[in-house]
Amino acid sequence: MGENVIPLADLRYAAALPRIPETGFDTGGLLADRLGRPLRDLRISVTDRCNFRCSYCMPKDVFDSQYKFLPQSSLLSFEEITRTARLFVAHGVVKLRLTGGEPLLRKHIEVLIAQLAALRTPEGQALDITLTTNGSLLERKAAALREAGLQRVTVSLDALDDGIFRAMNDVDFPVADVLRGIDAALKAGLAPIKINMVVKRGTNDQEIVPLARHVREHCGPGVVLRFIEYMDVGATNGWRMNEVLPSAQVVQQLHEAFPLEALEASAPGETAQRWRYRDGGGEIGVISSVTQAFCGDCNRARLSTEGKLFLCLFASRGHDLRALLRGTQADGSPYSDEQIARAIGLIWSEREDRYSQLRGAQAAEPGSGERRVEMHYIGG
Ligand code: GTP
Ligand code: 5AD
Ligand code: SF4
Ligand code: SF4
Repeated sequence: MGENVIPLADLRYAAALPRIPETGFDTGGLLADRLGRPLRDLRISVTDRCNFRCSYCMPKDVFDSQYKFLPQSSLLSFEEITRTARLFVAHGVVKLRLTGGEPLLRKHIEVLIAQLAALRTPEGQALDITLTTNGSLLERKAAALREAGLQRVTVSLDALDDGIFRAMNDVDFPVADVLRGIDAALKAGLAPIKINMVVKRGTNDQEIVPLARHVREHCGPGVVLRFIEYMDVGATNGWRMNEVLPSAQVVQQLHEAFPLEALEASAPGETAQRWRYRDGGGEIGVISSVTQAFCGDCNRARLSTEGKLFLCLFASRGHDLRALLRGTQADGSPYSDEQIARAIGLIWSEREDRYSQLRGAQAAEPGSGERRVEMHYIGG
């Protein structure tokens, strides 16, 4: 391919070329967006591929053998990711999450983890580094991930029943393998482990209590199960409001089986409302982005596999940081850390996204307007 031909995959989502302000937003400066929200959490997608085809994320009819995933040359290298993460940390980020697609499909991911684990906040603190996985490769990789410096993992698990699980991942993947992956992660010390279940009314809502019981009985308090309202992310999952089971009903169902009491939020900007079992059986969480939006203190930025920065899970436009990481200035010199840090600072300072909060007001129809970013491309 000629040098000035942009691969089609790169044109999938619009991305603006970041502006570099002459002054301000220097490395080390804390940031606030237009709604006064700080930047604390960077989610880094390391691959747009996944070995599952969950219908709410990568429906098979769209993500089939014809689908063009990003070419290797488009992906940020580990050095580019680490450089970018370092600049975000200088601007206040204290938590990094590796996502995908399925992040454990990225070759030598533990090398990236080791690089990220060496980063320190301006105060000299280590970062909170975690990873979201479907668990399919966890049994094999848990020990190496821990050794590289990963502190904890979040495992997606939508059902305990093997038939329902196989149908939801749509590649006939057995639930037993994921459960063994969770055990391996516990053994490796990747705790506290979070298990995320996306609840779709009529598909897996009968699994809420069985999964809660399983975690209570077999995993212990080192594992926190969280129930996520099915969201209208992207444009391919055919989302309908009547498939959303409001978290209030999830809590009600659980409370009837195992009495619960509410816990205080442990950190500002948290996605989950926390509850604990009255009998001391551990903690659960509910993530209610549809019925109770939590944009008010959203401190999360997302870096796509190909280096585009997205300011909201529901954004349709990114900011092409890779153009700065790889590009050159008019005089042929590369952009400096200071320049890229200033560009990031300006982007965050102009942020006003709060999609979930506005969704209710606008009753946005999926697919209307500009095409929204897909979750397999930007991570959860
Ligand atoms: P912990 O630090 O482990 O508690 O992680 P977290 O809850 O911040 O992140 P996680 O990726 O586990 O989030 C769980 C799910 O919540 C995701 O898979 C999404 O479905 C949803 N979610 C996370 N962040 C956002 C967000 O900023 N906006 C919305 N609308 N949903 C989000
Ligand atoms: N609604 C809610 N959560 C979703 N995820 C992916 N698609 C959706 C959706 N439509 C989340 C799930 C999954 C993670 C990778 O992304 O938590 O575990
Ligand atoms: Fe399913 Fe996660 Fe893969 Fe999406 S990225 S298809 S939610 S396993
Ligand atoms: Fe943050 Fe956007 Fe999610 Fe609101 S919808 S919490 S602004 S990512």
